[in-house]
Amino acid sequence: MDLTLRIWRQNGAEAPGRLEEHAVTGVEPDMSFLEMLDVLNETLLKEGRDPVTFEHDCREGICGSCGLVINGIPHGPGERSSTCQLHMRHFKSGDTITIEPWRVHSFPILKDLMVDRSALDSIIQSHGYISVSTGSPPDAGTRLIGKPEADQAMDAAECIGCGACAAACPNGSAMLFVAAKVSHLASLPQGRIEAAERVRDMTRTMFSCGFGNCSNHYECEAACPKGISLKFIAKLNRESLKALFRG
Ligand code: FES
Repeated sequence: MDLTLRIWRQNGAEAPGRLEEHAVTGVEPDMSFLEMLDVLNETLLKEGRDPVTFEHDCREGICGSCGLVINGIPHGPGERSSTCQLHMRHFKSGDTITIEPWRVHSFPILKDLMVDRSALDSIIQSHGYISVSTGSPPDAGTRLIGKPEADQAMDAAECIGCGACAAACPNGSAMLFVAAKVSHLASLPQGRIEAAERVRDMTRTMFSCGFGNCSNHYECEAACPKGISLKFIAKLNRESLKALFRG
């Protein structure tokens, strides 16, 4: 496959950015999108040019590091797929592909396609954890958790914190991310103890980091590589109301 790439190049948050055009040849349909970018970077390095900066780590859809807007879609055209799990068979030879970083106020561009997503870390640091002592691991069966609650916690825990929800949202809201983390812990007995403080702290930090509010565009759920459901935003809202009445 021969492709034309239009790639966003930018030297830092304050520098002007531009789309730069590159031709790549010999791309295999079974290559991942990131492997295709590796091919481009090898060529750029051989030519003594600046390679394109992009973030990645596991390349297995686990870590949430990769995140590119491909032809206007966060993580590209694959369904429930992170950028690293997107394969070039989704494109055809002769295509022009536009590649941009997450466009979110709270994720300043570090270089080219790499953004600073530490705002998500700040939200987790604000209360995305259980601080009570749960002791040593209990024997199986001593703390019974119903199947629906366990399933709900596991579904929410699938969030890999990539930030695609905020990148897809016209309001730049990280509500789906916060909802997944709050719901995950609030579904389990160990997490219920601090549930009120947690939801207050995490939503407050989300807004202080500059993320917008949710106004039900549903774009976050569509872009999420793990298919985190909007029902968790409903649960987040219920947890917020409960926290309000607890004072
Ligand atoms: S590189 Fe880890 S999820 Fe894509």
